[in-house]
Amino acid sequence: MTEKRANKMWGGRFELSPAELMIEINASIGFDKAMAPQDIRGSKAHAEMLAAQGIITKADAREIVRGLDQVKAEIEAGTFEFSERLEDIHLNVESRLTELIGPAGGRLHTARSRNDQVALDFRMFVRDAIDGLDLGLARLQLALASKAEAHADVVMPGFTHLQPAQPVTFGHHLLAYVEMLARDRGRLSDARKRLNECPLGSAALAGTSFPIDRHMTAEALGFDRPTANSLDGVSDRDFALETMAACAISAMHLSRLAEEIVLWMTPQFGFVRLSDRWTTGSSIMPQKRNPDAAELCRAKVGRIAGAFQGLLMVMKGLPLTYSKDMQEDKEQTFDALRSFRVAVAAMGGMIEDLEPDPDVMRAAAGSGYSTATDIADWLVRTLKLPFREAHHATGAIVRLAETRGETLEQLPLAAMQAIEPRITADVLKVLSVESSVRSRSSYGGTAPQNVRKMARVWLRRLEKAAARG
Ligand code: ARG
Repeated sequence: MTEKRANKMWGGRFELSPAELMIEINASIGFDKAMAPQDIRGSKAHAEMLAAQGIITKADAREIVRGLDQVKAEIEAGTFEFSERLEDIHLNVESRLTELIGPAGGRLHTARSRNDQVALDFRMFVRDAIDGLDLGLARLQLALASKAEAHADVVMPGFTHLQPAQPVTFGHHLLAYVEMLARDRGRLSDARKRLNECPLGSAALAGTSFPIDRHMTAEALGFDRPTANSLDGVSDRDFALETMAACAISAMHLSRLAEEIVLWMTPQFGFVRLSDRWTTGSSIMPQKRNPDAAELCRAKVGRIAGAFQGLLMVMKGLPLTYSKDMQEDKEQTFDALRSFRVAVAAMGGMIEDLEPDPDVMRAAAGSGYSTATDIADWLVRTLKLPFREAHHATGAIVRLAETRGETLEQLPLAAMQAIEPRITADVLKVLSVESSVRSRSSYGGTAPQNVRKMARVWLRRLEKAAARG
């Protein structure tokens, strides 16, 4: 189905209008309108540079900037009419600009192409998203570190293979996630550093014959420098890939924490409670409290890692430079960034809300002979047994306790001495879960005094950063 009217923006050599389906497959305005703020910011900087370089008049540049501000206001007010026929955000903005200010609007695109324009807008969009994510992740770290400080002494089972292994403190467990998130923020900030080169002025692919000043636009738009190769400038999407890869790793961390919250909330564990704010009921089973928010945080990594894979597959094998394939970069990236932002914020809310049950946690920590290693360590320290021998004797003690149906704390000293006669009453001191965690004071260990210190180090660091930012 065609109509006798070519696209008014590039229709010079076309006689007929595109097929309806062509319009549908070609248009990106449905999603790239999210980049309107970046598009307008980039265009204003471009116009000002063109005027500074004498490529357009100062009067035209003033008109363009005024017109762009009006377009921005219309978009913000929701009165802007987006048109699919105008394909994308770039042509929509430029077309409206020309409606508003007349022929001067047509001068904006001098020494520029949609190829460097979209590369710029998308980069700035991802950069803004990174800045927002960093803030969100820092808030989540703050929530975790505050909880860790408050519960530095709460003893819980530490697991390996999801079997009770050794007692740890709840604060220590939470601080493990603060470390993970610090690495995640590091990865995002590395990505931001590499991203921060301005592709504007690469033009269609080869650069331009106009005497533009790329350093000026780069600086005006907050970049460290212009990209050094015009072909690379228009065809690079590494910044989106790298950011999504960093988000996927971080979402994996959120997923592990979310899974622990789900587990801890089951009646079988009963370690923590989330309030009604972060749980839902069942429509049929009145007793249920479902951790839906945690489950959704657990799931998001699938979507985010999928988006990363998706874009990697779009970019794979594309010859230089721009191909329309690259329009497929945005939807999944936008979706991944938005999903991740929501998940980070929800996780922050859940952590603030989370209340541990210290009695249940302590009881669980004492089950499963979790202080067996403490007996072995005592045998090594006090009787100077080689660790392997100590391990063997402790194994026999655990077996005995098991057959008698007692915990290690309940097992009489005489029973232990039947296995290793040199054991003295001194061993009883190491059997409680409290003394177990207290003794693990090696650097990075779970001892409450370590946890309190590390939580404070983090709180100071994060509060200082928040005050700066
Ligand atoms: N909407 C396009 C995109 O997102 C903008 C760039 C179009 N460039 C072109 N040469 N057709 O990729």
